[in-house]
Amino acid sequence: MSCSTLFTLKTSLFASAAVNRSFNLRPTNYSLPTASLNVDVHSNPKTSLHENPKKSSEVIADEKKFVVGTYARAPVVLASGKGCKVYDVEGREYLDLTSGIAVNALGHGDPDWVRAVTEQANVLAHVSNIYYSVPQVELAKRLVALSFADRVFFSNSGTEANEAAIKFARKFQRYSHSDEKLSPMEFIAFTNCFHGRTMGALALTSKENYRSPFEPVMPGVTFLEYGNAQAVREGGIYSATKEFLQSLRTACDNAGSLLIFDEIQCGLGRSGYLWAHEAYGVYPDIMTLAKPLAGGLPIGAVLVTEKVARAINFGDHGSTFAGNPLVCSAAITVLDKISSPAFLASVSEKGRYFKDLLVKKLGGYSHVREVRGSGLIIGIELDISASPLVDACQQLGLLILTAGKGNVVRIVPPLIISTQEIDRAVEILIDCMPVLDQVSTN
Ligand SMILES: Cc1ncc(COP(=O)(O)O)c(C=O)c1O
Repeated sequence: MSCSTLFTLKTSLFASAAVNRSFNLRPTNYSLPTASLNVDVHSNPKTSLHENPKKSSEVIADEKKFVVGTYARAPVVLASGKGCKVYDVEGREYLDLTSGIAVNALGHGDPDWVRAVTEQANVLAHVSNIYYSVPQVELAKRLVALSFADRVFFSNSGTEANEAAIKFARKFQRYSHSDEKLSPMEFIAFTNCFHGRTMGALALTSKENYRSPFEPVMPGVTFLEYGNAQAVREGGIYSATKEFLQSLRTACDNAGSLLIFDEIQCGLGRSGYLWAHEAYGVYPDIMTLAKPLAGGLPIGAVLVTEKVARAINFGDHGSTFAGNPLVCSAAITVLDKISSPAFLASVSEKGRYFKDLLVKKLGGYSHVREVRGSGLIIGIELDISASPLVDACQQLGLLILTAGKGNVVRIVPPLIISTQEIDRAVEILIDCMPVLDQVSTN
């Protein structure tokens, strides 16, 4: 941290403390709020969505009429959840191995998370980033203490975190080449990647069908073959091996480029490590996070080294909602729980158990090409579309996802899943496997 920045921070903190002392901003009957799950909230029968629940068919019909059709949704209307289970409006139970796409790492309704959110909502949900707030600064401190990074920028989603990373990288190059007319502004991304749907993150997303309807997107992006270390050295890039990541680090160092890791899905404990890159001992200059960080509230974060942060000035980037007290309090609870060594060890152990069981039980099925993954992010690659299997599992009360070109079953359960729930999920999966033979012979 540079001296001038420390000075600014200190003066401003002092100023806000002075304001609190000279003007009595607190009501005289103010007492510090206490965490209360049984907070005195009564639902308003006129506005409560819980008092007169709708049927699935009604919700689906209204959605088709009133919501822009960007999602090909499964015909399931979810109303509540607890742990690894979710329930639809008719009360049907589903074992949730999707976690809202790798978001609900602590499962649904974790009591500590509910307490943190309720307590903070009782006190202060939102303030503008033109003021300081304690939860944001505390969350940043924890993220820095637990990572390679020196500073954090908060956003509201994964794509926004990547958008900020793009701006920071460009600004860094402009700052580092301030004496040159044209600073380097090219990006290299890799095949089979997804980084989000805003114009910058979309430009870095390799899937053509996501990108081409919206072109022109941000220019200056080259796609290399993922995992091909030779291609990187040649300025150009398959699976994250230590050698591959190390070659990226070296290539970036030699070229004066920044290495950016998108850990939006694989980060924060999912791989069994707090950060997926820790398994390889290769560290980035910038890392983006989002999905699980606030346990279901919208958040994104960009972690940067001091050398990157030095290039960023007031006004270079910002957001109205980002890092507000509510999301940051929730995120502190999530981060504190996930970063405990015992929690991370349990993710690794359950991931190994899950993968071994899948390999054992799926070994005899001709459509299964490979079971892969690390920790509790597991892919089952098939030689045909995985959609019929996903639909059949849903009929039997198991929610799973597809990935890749649609031929991969993606399993990203809450990290708190039990071995009994893993056993049950594998049983349902096995019961549904014959559907693949029916589809392929039709
Ligand atoms: C690796 C990765 N990056 C970026 C994103 C975009 O995140 P969001 O949907 O929060 O914008 C995703 C979302 O699936 C992702 O998996």
